[in-house]
Amino acid sequence: MLKIFERWHERKRIYYYRFILFFSFFGTSSLLIALSKRKETPIIWNKIFRFFNPEIKYSKFRIDGDLSAAILLILILSLIMGVYLYLFERKFIDNCRDMAATSAIIALNLLLIKFLLPIPTYAVPAFVGVILISLLIDVRVSIIFNVILSIVTLLIVGMNNLSFALHLFVTGSLCAIVSHSINNRLQFISHGFLASLISSLFVLSTELVFKMNEAEVLTTSANSFIGTALSFIIAYGTLPVWEYLFDFTTPIRLMELSNPNHPLLKRLLLEAPGTYHHSLIVGNLAEIACEAVGGNYLLARIGAYYHDIGKLKRPFYFKENQIIEEDPHNRITPTLSALIIISHTKDGVEIGKEYRLPRQVLDIIKQHHGTTKVAFFYGKALSQNQQVSEEKFRYDGPIPQSKEAAIVMLADSVEAAVRALSSPTPQMIEATIRNVIQEKLLDGQLNNSDLTFKELEIILENFIKVLTGVFHKRVSYNIFEDSSNKSDEVMVRSENIHSKSAR
Ligand SMILES: [Fe+2]
Ligand SMILES: [Fe+2]
Repeated sequence: MLKIFERWHERKRIYYYRFILFFSFFGTSSLLIALSKRKETPIIWNKIFRFFNPEIKYSKFRIDGDLSAAILLILILSLIMGVYLYLFERKFIDNCRDMAATSAIIALNLLLIKFLLPIPTYAVPAFVGVILISLLIDVRVSIIFNVILSIVTLLIVGMNNLSFALHLFVTGSLCAIVSHSINNRLQFISHGFLASLISSLFVLSTELVFKMNEAEVLTTSANSFIGTALSFIIAYGTLPVWEYLFDFTTPIRLMELSNPNHPLLKRLLLEAPGTYHHSLIVGNLAEIACEAVGGNYLLARIGAYYHDIGKLKRPFYFKENQIIEEDPHNRITPTLSALIIISHTKDGVEIGKEYRLPRQVLDIIKQHHGTTKVAFFYGKALSQNQQVSEEKFRYDGPIPQSKEAAIVMLADSVEAAVRALSSPTPQMIEATIRNVIQEKLLDGQLNNSDLTFKELEIILENFIKVLTGVFHKRVSYNIFEDSSNKSDEVMVRSENIHSKSAR
């Protein structure tokens, strides 16, 4: 019963945000078109608009026939957009955060156009919203909003000009497409410059083809360059605000986190070097597998880089960081050992928050062990005839809630399992990886991850390709090191036991 209520509550929230989205588009558009139609402004807006334009006169608000037609047009557009989003963009229309951000971006974009209109029309930064939606949410959603925003912008500007309409539609779509592939700050400049250049050439050609405004062809073309460039500059400048307000993780933010000079990665390298190197391999594995199944591979890589930062609290309790002979676990009970091992996910989230890691990365840290059992210490406790409950030896979870988190979990486990093989052959590596994936599947750890069986097979193939290259070659050198072989084997076996429980 409680679940039904929760679901209804969640649905209600989604309807509420859908209404906000509709209102922000329909309401803002209608209001601004109304203001454009009338030279005078209504009472309630008088003071606000006076601030921007002291020449505005006070008057009562009145709707004329022309305006009603414009509002009807906006209503039809809103409904068409609503139906399209409902049928083809369900992911967007069911995500409250994305709808809230889009509502705010659209409203501010339209206000920006309206208030900057005293500058030449083509130089108005009309594409800020399109760029932001493409960067933060989705390129397809951005393109559909561009179609509708183009028509509304045309109505607000009050221009009956085919060249300008085409400019809004084509340059807007171009901005959405190029913004989608922006991964760092430098690309912001290069992609922005390219889009501005193409935009000015496009306006130049349309003006000449349609002979719209022959006398001012060059000025109009230069203005369109300025307008597009300004759109990129404003989008770039306000991006951190949107990231912060709506908790977005952009590729730009992720690329910053991949820099080895990031203070947290530096700490990991100095204080837990074994974990650092393990995380790098897991990062490569996760990225390749995630790219192959069409997930957010950059997020998977960064999530993997930071997945074990919780080990910074007690690095020497984890085998990969033990440089001294004695294992500290020998001095404590298996229950305490399990507690220390299990707490590295919770500690990781705390440390991640301190360093302001994005929420999606924190989710991966929290979910990378799901609710799996720390089998080694559970077995050790049982062998010592202790009365222990299995629950105390399981990670807190939750199980991975996204493709990326599940792939990091699998990459983490297969890397540890393959590394623990004493003399791996390609067949052994494949069998081990298959085994690990099967175990996680049977244990229900992948139930909420959206991964299909087909995708699991693709992930498996990619893991085999990478790990065979890394571990098979390394073993061929060891064949000739007969004197150290035995001690190596002992170390690897002991790591196997620990890694199964701790990584
Ligand atoms: Fe790990
Ligand atoms: Fe871990």
